[in-house]
Amino acid sequence: MSPETNPSHAPRYGSNMGQPLTRRDGLLKVTGRATYAADNHPPGMLYAVTAVSKIARGRVTSLDVAAAKAHSGVVEVMTPANRPPLAHDPDEKMPPFGFRVEVLQNDRVRYVNQPIALVIAQTLEAATEGAMLLDPQYDAQDARVERADGELYDPPAIGVGAPPGAAYGDIDAGLARAAHLVEAEYFTPAQYHNAMEPHAVVAEWDGDRVMLDMPNQALALSCASYAAYFGIPAENVTIRSPFLGGGFGSKAILNGPQILAILAARMLGRPVKLALTRSQMYGPVGHRGATWQTLRIGTDGDGQLTGLHHRAIAATSSFDDFLEPAANASLPLYASPAILVEHKGLRLDTGTPGPMRAPGEASGSAALEVAMDEAAEACGMDPLDFRLKNYAETEPGTGKPFSSKALRACYAEGAKRFGWSRRPLEAGQMRDEKGFLVGWGMGTAVFHCPHFPAEARATLRADGTALVETAGADMGQGAWTALAQIAAEALGLDPQQVELHSGLSTLPDGGIAGGSGHTASAGLALNNASKDAIARLTDLATGNPQSPLFGAGNIGVIARNGRLHRRDDETRSQSYAEILAGAGQPEVVGTAKAARDPSVGAAHALYSHGAVFAEVKIDPDLGQIRTTRLVGAFAAGRIINPRLVRSQYFGGMIWGASFALHEEAVTDRRTGRIMNADLAEYHVPVNADVPSLDAILIPEDDPYINPIGVKGVGEIGITGTVGAIANAVWHATGKRLRRFPIRIEDVI
Ligand code: MOS
Repeated sequence: MSPETNPSHAPRYGSNMGQPLTRRDGLLKVTGRATYAADNHPPGMLYAVTAVSKIARGRVTSLDVAAAKAHSGVVEVMTPANRPPLAHDPDEKMPPFGFRVEVLQNDRVRYVNQPIALVIAQTLEAATEGAMLLDPQYDAQDARVERADGELYDPPAIGVGAPPGAAYGDIDAGLARAAHLVEAEYFTPAQYHNAMEPHAVVAEWDGDRVMLDMPNQALALSCASYAAYFGIPAENVTIRSPFLGGGFGSKAILNGPQILAILAARMLGRPVKLALTRSQMYGPVGHRGATWQTLRIGTDGDGQLTGLHHRAIAATSSFDDFLEPAANASLPLYASPAILVEHKGLRLDTGTPGPMRAPGEASGSAALEVAMDEAAEACGMDPLDFRLKNYAETEPGTGKPFSSKALRACYAEGAKRFGWSRRPLEAGQMRDEKGFLVGWGMGTAVFHCPHFPAEARATLRADGTALVETAGADMGQGAWTALAQIAAEALGLDPQQVELHSGLSTLPDGGIAGGSGHTASAGLALNNASKDAIARLTDLATGNPQSPLFGAGNIGVIARNGRLHRRDDETRSQSYAEILAGAGQPEVVGTAKAARDPSVGAAHALYSHGAVFAEVKIDPDLGQIRTTRLVGAFAAGRIINPRLVRSQYFGGMIWGASFALHEEAVTDRRTGRIMNADLAEYHVPVNADVPSLDAILIPEDDPYINPIGVKGVGEIGITGTVGAIANAVWHATGKRLRRFPIRIEDVI
C-alpha cells in the first residue's frame, strides 16, 4: 500500500485540523434563530398533553373523560378505550436498542408519570386543563422503590446488550494471597438526564407519510422504529432534528409519549404537538438507574494488585432490563492477575433506565476510583503512585494491546499542572487561610470507543465550494463544526468553503450521536465521501487533455487550497472550479459508507483515557463542600477542534462534580413518586458550584482506531472526576464516603 492509499499513514495534521474554530450553530443559538422541535407550528396544529399516573403500581380504574371532553377547546381524549392500534406490540422490544414502552395498551400502571391518557386540544391551556379534569381513580398496589423491596435477578445482558459479567484469572486465589484487602460497598443514586430541552414532537401526517420534528440522537434507527410502530415503510418517516437542547442518551431511545402524539396526529388528521413538562421527564424517557456496588481489591506487599472483584446491583424497571453496566468499569484500567465483574438486576416500580452520559463508566468508575484510593491508603502509597504501579500495559484480562494509550502522559501532565507532588499523604493535613479543610484527590478516566455505521455525501460545486451531508445530530457538542473540519481537510478546502447539512433523516444515515462516537463515525463517513469526491474530480482532470494535470493519473495528485496539484510537480495545478468547467460538469458527488472493520477491535483494545485531579474546600463548621479546582488531562486520539474538545471535557467534569456532590432523584417510598422532579429541587451545579477548570489535551496518535485517528471525548470527562472529588473529601476530612452524592451531613 502506498502512503496515499493506506490512510493510517497519510499525513495527519492538515492545515485545517486542530483549529479551534467557534461553533457554526453558535450565532443561531444565541440570537434565538435556532428552531427546536417545539418551535414548529404547522397550520391547524393541535396541542397534546399527557395525563400521567400518580401511583407507581396498580391499575387505573376510572377516568372522567366526559369532563375533559366538555372543556372548551378539548378536541379528543385518547385512553386505552379508544387508542388506535399499533403495528408493533409495545410490550415487545424492538432491536437493536428497543425498549418496552407504555402507550395506553391497557389500564396497567408500572411507574409514576406513566402516560394514562392523552388530551388533545386547540390550545396548550385547554389540553392541560382537560388533563387535570380526568380525575383518575386507581387500584394501587404498594410501590417497590427501595432496594429491600425490589426483586433481584440474574440478567441475561446489561446496558444495550453487553454480557452481564466477565472473569479473568482465579479471583479467590488472588484475594486470598493479598497482603491488604479492601472491601466496601458504594451507592450511586438514580439520576435524570434533565436536558434543557424537554422531549417534544410535532407530528404531521400526509396520507401514510409522517413528518416528525423532534430532538433525536439516532435518526435512521428511529425512523425504522417509528415505521414499525405505525406499520409504514421506513422511508415514509421523516425526522427533522436540526438542534437538540441536550440529549445525553435519552433522545436516542423511543418513548411512549412521543408515540402517542404521533398516533393522535394520525387519528385526528391534523398536526399535533406534544412537549413534556419537566416533571413528566422523570419516568418515561429514561434515566440512570441506581447502583449498589461492592468492590474487593487485594494488593501484595509492594502495592501490586492480586485481585479485583467488582459486583454491581443495578436498578431497573419491573418490565424491562436496561442495567447500568457499572462493574465493567473495572475491566480496562488496572493490571491484575485476576478480575471478576458481575451484575445483578433489581426490579423496582420505576420507569426503565437507559443510556445516560457515560452509562456504566460514570457510576462504575465512581466506585472503582474510591476503592482504588482506599487500596492505596491500605498500602501506605500515594494514590497516583499506586495507579502507576498497577498501570495496564495491555488490556487486563484479554491481554490485547491498546490501539493507543497516553495515560502515563495524562497522569504526569495533570499532576504537574495541579501541583500533586505537594500533597501530604495523610488526610486532614491542609487548611486554607480561612480555616477551611482542604483536600486533594485524583481518579483515572476511561471510556470505550464505539463506532456506529454511517454514511455521507460530499458534493464539490462549480464555484469550488462543497456541500457535505450526513444525518447526524448536534446536541450542543459542536458536531456541525468538527464534522465540517474533517470534510474540509479531506476535500483540501478551508472549512469556511464547506457547507454541512445535518439533522434531517433524508440525508445519508449519520449513525448515532451517542457513545462519544459521533465525530469518529460520521466523521469517517464524511472523510471517505470527501475523498471519493476528490477521486472523481481527479479523474476529470487527469483525463482532460486541456488540463495541466492531464496524464497524472498514475502519479497522483494532492488536494490543497481548492486546487489539485500534480504530486511530482506541485507547480502544475488546477482549481476545482476550473476542472469542473473544463469537464462541463456542474458538480461531482462523492459518497461513502463507513463501518469499523471487526479486525480493529479484535486486535486492539479501544479506549480514551485521562486523569482528573480535584481540590475541595470544606467549611469545618457548616460542612459545606466546594470543589475549588479540577484539572483533567485527557488523551483521545486526534483532536479535531481543541476549543470544542475542551468544552466537552469541561462539561464532563462539571457533570462529574454534579454526580459527586449534587444529583440525586429522591423517591418517596410510600407513593413511589420522585419528590424532586424539577430543576429547583433536583440539584445540578450552578455557576457558583463550578470551580476553576483546566482541561489538558494530551497528544495521542492512534494508527489503528480508524483512518482519521479520532476517538471520542463526550463522556470521558465524567469518569474519574467523581472519584477524584470523593477522594479529595477523604483527604480533607479523613472520612471515606461511599454514598453519592456526598452531602453536608456526611462530613460534619
Ligand atoms: Mo450518550 S449516553 O451515548 O448520549
